[in-house]
Amino acid sequence: MELALMANLRLVTLLAACLCIWATAQASRLLDHDEPSEFSVKHLGTTEEAMAVGGKRSLLQRSALPGGFSRGFSPIKLPDLPYEYGALEPYISGQIMELHYSKHHKSYVDNLNKLMNQTVEAEEKGDLAKVISLQGAIKFNGGGHINHAIFWTNLCPPKDFKPPSGDLLAAIEAKWKSLENFQSTFSAQTAGVQGSGWGWLVMKPDGSIDTVTMSNQDPVATLGLTPLLGIDVWEHAYYLQYLNVRNDYLKQIWNVVNWSNVEERFAVAKAK
Ligand SMILES: *[C@@H]1O[C@H](CO)[C@@H](O)[C@H](O)[C@H]1NC(C)=O
Ligand SMILES: *[C@@H]1O[C@H](CO)[C@@H](O)[C@H](O)[C@H]1NC(C)=O
Repeated sequence: MELALMANLRLVTLLAACLCIWATAQASRLLDHDEPSEFSVKHLGTTEEAMAVGGKRSLLQRSALPGGFSRGFSPIKLPDLPYEYGALEPYISGQIMELHYSKHHKSYVDNLNKLMNQTVEAEEKGDLAKVISLQGAIKFNGGGHINHAIFWTNLCPPKDFKPPSGDLLAAIEAKWKSLENFQSTFSAQTAGVQGSGWGWLVMKPDGSIDTVTMSNQDPVATLGLTPLLGIDVWEHAYYLQYLNVRNDYLKQIWNVVNWSNVEERFAVAKAK
């Protein structure tokens, strides 16, 4: 009886230690913002890249700053939408775009800034339990921000549509035989997301490309993958126009994919 209790205690301690390490790493990733201006989606660097590069100040380094004071953080800004709300019509209505960007994405950004503020304050007080308790909400709102910042740039007005070419097309054809086959595979997989989530074309650490679906707002970076193209299948992304027919939305969305953006992300990811 006592032995079992001891073993349980040890397990709990071990789990708590793992969680702390993970939470610290997560928090430091999200707090590493020096240049909010770089978060513009018009900029070549994506939110993701801006997060990955730049001044690395981890939570631990921060505490070690002279005087032990936190330097706080620069609030994340809602990135500009690279086109007008109605620019993706008739495939995505202006009403969907307006709500999606100015309400949904904005609230992820606002919530994330509040959470980062609370994290810094908890960290300043040495309240590790509080820092850890904020992680779930940071993952959700931070993921929502990262995913949407990529999504807007992955799309373009239908008048500007150009099919993929070059290295990216070659990689797609090597894996899925044809662009059409890739698109139908991607759409079918993404249609199968249970509840809210995303479908992604990603680059894996070995340089190959693949598709993956994610739940809620979990960013693909949590699986060590680099996002190239993300399609939002939360109902807020399509319901006002396509109602319950997610499949139709997933057919039409291909008319407004900005393949040159996907190609650019592929080239940047390969160069790393
Ligand atoms: C958090 O928000 C409060 C209230 O707006 C503000 O006074 C404080 O400076 C913020 N803390 C950080 C670390 O930004
Ligand atoms: C498509 O993406 C490319 C590369 O990111 C960008 O330069 C271009 O402005 C985008 N096109 C539109 C119409 O948004």
